[in-house]
Amino acid sequence: MLTKGKHAIFPIIIYHKESDLLVCSCMEVEYDAILEAVKTHGDDLEAIKDATDAGTVCECCLEDDCDKVDLTLPAAIAKAKAELSA
Ligand code: FES
Repeated sequence: MLTKGKHAIFPIIIYHKESDLLVCSCMEVEYDAILEAVKTHGDDLEAIKDATDAGTVCECCLEDDCDKVDLTLPAAIAKAKAELSA
């Protein structure tokens, strides 16, 4: 057991279900919504933005280095396409 002074330190492990991965912070869009949009729109970014509202406010989630989301919108689209074609 880890301790710090007189206090025990208990590590906290947080598991995300893949469907709960946050893709757009501004519009609170999660991966499952992107997966559903990809089923209809393929990898058409603009159609997926229109369908989900993801990426329509600050546009951070469209950038590779966005630290506001678990998975960027382009990465979520690529992941959904890979899952659907498997
Ligand atoms: S995080 Fe997606 S538009 Fe701001």
